[in-house]
Amino acid sequence: MSQHDCPNDKSTCWSCPAVEFKGHVDFRACGQAAFRKAASGQLVVECKRRPEIGYFDPMSITYDSCTEWRESEYGRLLKGMRVLILGMDGYLGWPLALKLAKLGCEVHGIDNMVRRKLVDEKGGQSVLPIESMSNRVAAAKRQLDVDIHFREMDLLDRESLFPYLQEVKPEAIVQFAEIPSAPYSMASVDKAVHTIENNVVGTLGLLFGMRDHAAEASLIKLGTMGEYGSPLTGRPLFEGLFPGEATLQYQGEEWSLGGELTPRDPVSFYHVSKVQGTFSVYEACKYWWLRSYDVMQGVIYGSHTDELAADPALNTRFDIDEWWGTVVNRFVAQTAVGEPMTIYGSGNQMRGYITLKDAMQCIVRLIAKPPEPGQYDVVNQVTDVFTVRHIAETVAKIGQREFGLDPLIQRLENPRVEAEEHPYEVIHEKLQEQFGFQSESSLEEEIRHIFKSALEPEAKSRIEAQRDVLTPRTRWSGEQKEMAVLETIRPAA
Ligand SMILES: NC(=O)c1ccc[n+]([C@@H]2O[C@H](COP(=O)([O-])OP(=O)(O)OC[C@H]3O[C@@H](n4cnc5c(N)ncnc54)[C@H](O)[C@@H]3O)[C@@H](O)[C@H]2O)c1
Repeated sequence: MSQHDCPNDKSTCWSCPAVEFKGHVDFRACGQAAFRKAASGQLVVECKRRPEIGYFDPMSITYDSCTEWRESEYGRLLKGMRVLILGMDGYLGWPLALKLAKLGCEVHGIDNMVRRKLVDEKGGQSVLPIESMSNRVAAAKRQLDVDIHFREMDLLDRESLFPYLQEVKPEAIVQFAEIPSAPYSMASVDKAVHTIENNVVGTLGLLFGMRDHAAEASLIKLGTMGEYGSPLTGRPLFEGLFPGEATLQYQGEEWSLGGELTPRDPVSFYHVSKVQGTFSVYEACKYWWLRSYDVMQGVIYGSHTDELAADPALNTRFDIDEWWGTVVNRFVAQTAVGEPMTIYGSGNQMRGYITLKDAMQCIVRLIAKPPEPGQYDVVNQVTDVFTVRHIAETVAKIGQREFGLDPLIQRLENPRVEAEEHPYEVIHEKLQEQFGFQSESSLEEEIRHIFKSALEPEAKSRIEAQRDVLTPRTRWSGEQKEMAVLETIRPAA
């Protein structure tokens, strides 16, 4: 499928967030998607954007025959689609806002700025300086000629959130507004409680708000691949739900597992909060016919998208301290200032990864093809599986050959409780097969981009200023102390 094919041409008004179901049947209580077939020809809808059509059968109009669904680079998008980004000031929220605004969406967002506060408290800072939200919004207007609507608000403040949902009338909601750090959540009881309360209660309140004020909007909820853990049996990590042909054999009998949620085995209290989010969303789709894609997000790296590149005032955050930095970004930053790349234990831990640029493409494609009412589905949003050691070696190779650096790898005692040797088979097919996603970046290219930014004099001095918080001290046991060095490796040139 080429990037310009429209994987949603033949979707119908059944899944369009602009229609409202009519009649007195409380179909939301009916539960399952099988209802769709039973309802065909019997259920009528009205289009909130085109009320002149009157009531009609939702299966009778396809997106490619509707004047409201316009072709875009990523499939058809509703003209001026109203998208609400929760956590717009964050690493992912801001580049998504720019991308959607460039695609002609009406972009709204909130944030309570907690990420800035927590990075500050840790003694870290974004390697690329980031502007205040008001300056970012002004820069987006100046550089990209787009309007982005931002309001400072806490997702937990339901007295503000619910009227805001009524005011914005979102057609898609992207839920990024969570505290995303495993080590932060393990550092103390207060930090664990903060993470769980913020993430679990925020999403739960949002679901009630959607039920009452935005029931037709699709919810793109960010989960994480860490919800699955890494099963030592080698069982594949299916996309959230078992495939139809999966069975369980026990004591000579066989049962179908098809469609059931796959096991979760979180690896920190942060991941526990994400698993709870998964169940809350799953239940809300079942009880109230909300619709959602739950995104099991791999580790994201890079700080580059076409929109961000337009001007430094549009930078997204790029954190590298032990709590808030993700691994590839941290390794490049460590190498840029002559610090060793710190890998935990053997370094053979495998995880799913994706670049920021590809992750943004995936989210746009999910917005463009909303789920059906009541549909809860899961995608594994990763492009590659790497060991930590492979990442360190790739950073080392590029650092040496292309930037004349002298990279070091240091194996440290592992602060986490995790398997260091394990199989890892991730199924990640839906985004490519159903949504038309094609990767536009690679580990090597992205490492080059990150090096270029990190070696700029201002960025380098911002890394140097936080040397103290680069090395891990937070152990899963609760102790805070430096890890013993197991081995120091200078990769051969
Ligand atoms: N970055 C990754 O590698 C990665 C990997 C897997 C999953 N995720 C998930 O993706 C989502 C976004 O991650 P990110 O890297 O952009 O994190 P981020 O911390 O940069 O962004 C989250 C934003 O939400 C805001 N926020 C948090 N709680 C809020 C609340 N109660 N009300 C309003 N705003 C609130 C924060 O201030 C922050 O700006 C998170 O849910 C995270 O768990 C990220």
